[in-house]
Amino acid sequence: TDLDSFITGLPKAELHLHIEGSLEPELMFELARRNGVEIPFATVEDVRAAYDFSNLQDFLDIYYAGAGVLQTRKDFHDLAAAYFARAAADGVVHAEIMFDPQTHTDRGIPFEEVIEGLLSAMAEAEVKFGMTSKLILSFLRHLSEEAAFEVLAMAEPWLDRIEAVGLDSSEVGHPPVKFAQVFAAARAKGLKLTAHAGEEGPPEYVYQALDLLHVDRIDHGNRSLEDPVLVDRLAGMGMTLTVCPLSNLKLCVVDDLGNHPIDRMLALGLKATINSDDPAYFGGYIGDNFKAVAEARGLDREEIVTLARNSFTGSFLPPAQIAAHL
Ligand code: ADE
Ligand code: ZN
Repeated sequence: TDLDSFITGLPKAELHLHIEGSLEPELMFELARRNGVEIPFATVEDVRAAYDFSNLQDFLDIYYAGAGVLQTRKDFHDLAAAYFARAAADGVVHAEIMFDPQTHTDRGIPFEEVIEGLLSAMAEAEVKFGMTSKLILSFLRHLSEEAAFEVLAMAEPWLDRIEAVGLDSSEVGHPPVKFAQVFAAARAKGLKLTAHAGEEGPPEYVYQALDLLHVDRIDHGNRSLEDPVLVDRLAGMGMTLTVCPLSNLKLCVVDDLGNHPIDRMLALGLKATINSDDPAYFGGYIGDNFKAVAEARGLDREEIVTLARNSFTGSFLPPAQIAAHL
């Protein structure tokens, strides 16, 4: 449709993307073969059929298992290169991608292999597509804060190539406060900060992300809407929320895209953005997320433009580069 081509043609930034979540079943099979790794699926169709989740943990169990096929620097390069090509086709001109080092180092893959593979794909995407990108090192919150400190130490030689730290994985039972000290340490090293909060967890976790972690961005943030005082605060401070409509649908954060709060967020003055989270698992890349929620909620072009503008103003690009995109 006209609106679909308008969405594709609109320059946009992606701010919430787990690179491990962009592993398409076809590449999973190719890497399994290349590396001689067993996967518990016979066909690509079997893999896709397994992507029927009733909550975040259901998804995470499959997502961490899938990541097992990633072994070498080339695997991480190929994974990220496939994502950049797909994102470029959707009009993404800047991407801030999260990676979960612990998912790999805990199974014996050196941190260096992971990050060097990603960095080489990022350099290639800049040449091939003119796409800029940044890396966000995400701590797994179901593991300890001590383990997060170990990852931060491992990352030390590459800190000039890492923009920010993030916090992901199982939210409920692992509140932001558990990571207050490692976030303070990351901040002291000059890193920007973001955290998943209010995806499945309560508004209290969003308060903790603000007051105890001092985040620059909130990933998801949906449940903030339950607390009008929190909404006013987030709106007043211009806090960016990286919202992921198809993820919200697949993980049952919303029961129907027709009930997705994206336009309500904008109406409340929240700086919401649209992102794909784990596109290989949730049925679509950023363009699909824009199109699906625009259709389901009847978004107009002005709302779509606002969402795209918010993706630049909420990015970690320096002000002059943000201005150049507006
Ligand atoms: N890891 C990958 N995707 C995630 C999500 N949506 N929430 C928490 N952890 C994740
Ligand atoms: Zn996420």
